[in-house]
Amino acid sequence: MKILFVVSEVEDLAKTGGLADVAKSLPIALRSLGHDVRIVKPYYKQLADKFKLENVSDEQQVHAGDKEYRFNIKRLELESVPVYCVDYPDYFHRAGLYSDGYQPFGDNAERFAFFSLAALQTARAVDFQPDIIHCNDWHTSLCSYFIKRDQSGFFARTKSLLTIHNGAYQGSYRFADIPFLRPHSELAAQIDSHGNLNFLKMGIVYADKINAVSPNYARELLTPLGSHNLYHELQSRANDVTGILNGCDYQQWDPASDTWLPANYNSESLKGKKVCKKALQEEVGLPVKDGVPLIGMLCRLTEQKGFGYLLPILGQLLQHNVQVLVIGTGDPVISDVLQFNAAQHPDKLVFRDDFSTRIAHMLEAGCDFFLMPSLFEPCGLNQMYSLAFGTIPIVRAVGGLRDTVLDLQMLPEQATGFMFEAPDSSALLNCVRRALLFYHEYPDEFVQMQKRAMRHRFTWYDAALNYQALYQNCLPMDN
Ligand code: GLC
Repeated sequence: MKILFVVSEVEDLAKTGGLADVAKSLPIALRSLGHDVRIVKPYYKQLADKFKLENVSDEQQVHAGDKEYRFNIKRLELESVPVYCVDYPDYFHRAGLYSDGYQPFGDNAERFAFFSLAALQTARAVDFQPDIIHCNDWHTSLCSYFIKRDQSGFFARTKSLLTIHNGAYQGSYRFADIPFLRPHSELAAQIDSHGNLNFLKMGIVYADKINAVSPNYARELLTPLGSHNLYHELQSRANDVTGILNGCDYQQWDPASDTWLPANYNSESLKGKKVCKKALQEEVGLPVKDGVPLIGMLCRLTEQKGFGYLLPILGQLLQHNVQVLVIGTGDPVISDVLQFNAAQHPDKLVFRDDFSTRIAHMLEAGCDFFLMPSLFEPCGLNQMYSLAFGTIPIVRAVGGLRDTVLDLQMLPEQATGFMFEAPDSSALLNCVRRALLFYHEYPDEFVQMQKRAMRHRFTWYDAALNYQALYQNCLPMDN
């Protein structure tokens, strides 16, 4: 099959979150199944600074409203998957991908509407007539719409799939402020009562199939509470909505070969994990104690991650014999509260307002538990990395967390972690207490749980097989 994978960010090239991990691993896995898959993404400044790429075709044009855009196409390869980069410096040669670090860019609507059109033009320019256009999140949702109204015939046989990685981000903009799209009179029907055009909703309406990044998130999206206010739109496509669990890149996340760690280990022997714990405690300035459970948390500081009910009980949690390490950047209100608590309990809580790949690997290896109490979580990758590192996840039973962690109470023989249901402080605190009790009271069983967690596999090969079946489902029978 010929697949055009259109996405805003790709691991190793430009990244803000888990979307980039998927955008690298999935195309590579599809390639290994024998598909001709090509990625299209913007040529961001981050990428241009790293790789000086040559143009691979003549200058290209797209017309949008009364504006004519001229752009170039660059190309590189990611483990033999071609990546075409849309080079339009006015929009993409900036310090951030979506914001200047404080405010989203004011022209994001035009930037990504343009990118979606330019991605299609790129396919024409390199004469790649895809069977499937695979769009990801709101940034590229409009591709599904644009191919439906394509006059050239180039995409006459092309179907589209929209993958929702995070339905909370929808790209909703005042239509009147997007001169770019104004001439599309048929869009009028999609404008809401506030005069906004919602990019993600456009994808939901126009894509041939829609999928979420875990089966449980797909189910949640079809409920009033879990639909991020897109209940009616998603319900009306209910027959076309499915879920496919993301995979984990076990080449990158393998404690047996991880070069960021002071010692390696595997599910046969966790000796090296103790060395990692000691090194982590030393590095972040926590007392070096092996018998004290160390809970790690690594995420963007946003409401999505459950801080609304974690912060009120942080003080109570820290009364236990425990150490907590939180690493992440984001909402200054959340970081202030974390800083305040860390100052009150310097021997128990450390908060680092930064992020690096090295510290991410150190945290995953050196902690005993990984806390992920998310309010919602489309899939979540960190809990998979934690499992691979024998770091027991404590998660809320939501989205992909429910699909990847097996709770001790529900499945004692197969358990890989601890889970709570209600998005509230007491449920969270009780769950952490349950985990701490298990750690102290049943040390042998705890090690068994760690080893089981390390053997649990979520491969990109499996995910790619599921995507292959879903693409097939989008195509007419004769394909
Ligand atoms: C988003 C979601 C996360 C998911 C990732 C990749 O970042 O918040 O849950 O794992 O996309 O699909």
